[in-house]
Amino acid sequence: MQIKNLPTPCYVYDRAVIEKRCRDLKTYFPGVKIFYAVKANSNPELLKIIRKEGLGIECVSPGEIRAGQAAGMTKEKISFTCSNLSESDLVFAARNAGYVHIDSLVQLETWGKKKLGRDVSLRINEGIGTGHHRHVVTGGPDSKFGISLKDLPAARKIVKKYGLRVVSLEQHIGSNVLDKDADIFLKSVRKLLRSAEEFPEVRHVDFGGGFGIPYRPTDRALNLKTLGKEFTSLTNAFAEKRGGKVTFALEPGRYVVAESGTLLTTVVDMKSTSKHQFVGVNSGFNHLIRPAMYGSYHPIENLSRKGTKKTVTIAGNVCESGDIFATHRSIVAPKIGDVLAIGNAGAYGMSMASVYNLRELPREFILEKGKAREITFSPEARVRTKK
Ligand SMILES: Cc1ncc(COP(=O)(O)O)c(C=O)c1O
Repeated sequence: MQIKNLPTPCYVYDRAVIEKRCRDLKTYFPGVKIFYAVKANSNPELLKIIRKEGLGIECVSPGEIRAGQAAGMTKEKISFTCSNLSESDLVFAARNAGYVHIDSLVQLETWGKKKLGRDVSLRINEGIGTGHHRHVVTGGPDSKFGISLKDLPAARKIVKKYGLRVVSLEQHIGSNVLDKDADIFLKSVRKLLRSAEEFPEVRHVDFGGGFGIPYRPTDRALNLKTLGKEFTSLTNAFAEKRGGKVTFALEPGRYVVAESGTLLTTVVDMKSTSKHQFVGVNSGFNHLIRPAMYGSYHPIENLSRKGTKKTVTIAGNVCESGDIFATHRSIVAPKIGDVLAIGNAGAYGMSMASVYNLRELPREFILEKGKAREITFSPEARVRTKK
């Protein structure tokens, strides 16, 4: 299958890559419950593949829970955490998710007052955060997520007031942990386990997601095997102290789907200024916002020809100057009509896409055994709740 023949703009995902990533996680983190973070990509067909691989899902909204249910995820396969939740969303999560990680004292109070269950899980901000951009650092003093350590005494009071039991702890420190960040991740694992020691009834500890992928040619990939070994020795030691009666979880999103996805776009215009040779394409930050939002790098390849390279700036069709996929990038000199492949776009691409400028969302395809099958879906139906 020549993916350059698919109608652009479109996303194309490679099924084999998703399956491989799921299997690697199961191999290197044996016995760990893996909840795929739906926010990375919520296409129903991808969720079905992930379910078939035995993973659960991590959700942050009723819409994501419904997407998981439609893909066949059962309650115990659904983990939920969200900051700034309305009461009705918390009630929905309590009824539909097997694990609900409480993000604030206000949520904890609601949980107790509404009698949502005796057992409760707390999302903790241990003060450690990391990430590829400050917007995705989700631990530490600038993060809006989780219950800070200083608030734990107040949390204990609420727990006591409503006769609750803290049976689980969760944290998520940030996104795109690469080899260089593995130590921070492990430090956060140790810290959360230390907190868990303070809660004798804890029988589940969830260390969140964040596993990264190498976007730039110079990035060093996370060594999952080494990380898995160190993680396992820490969790085994804790489990031993608890007589084995404890489960552990992870919530990877990006790692599962990022490298499976490519955004295909066609060159439709060219122009130059004193600084740039612009190549204009029929997509934009409405379809892949990561470069505009985080300054992210995505590999870009000209699928239509081979030959001499040229340094160009690849711009989208959104009516904003920041709509740039790559600045001064060397690619095979494109001509109008050429198809460009923007790689590593399977995570936080389509799921963050919008209809800004009232342009259509890209179509979606999945490559299976060399054939492309269309899996375009409209998220609208799942997002809207009946009033
Ligand atoms: C609570 C939680 N878990 C997991 C993830 C997944 O992160 P990643 O895609 O970096 O693995 C996120 C991402 O924001 C998150 O907020």
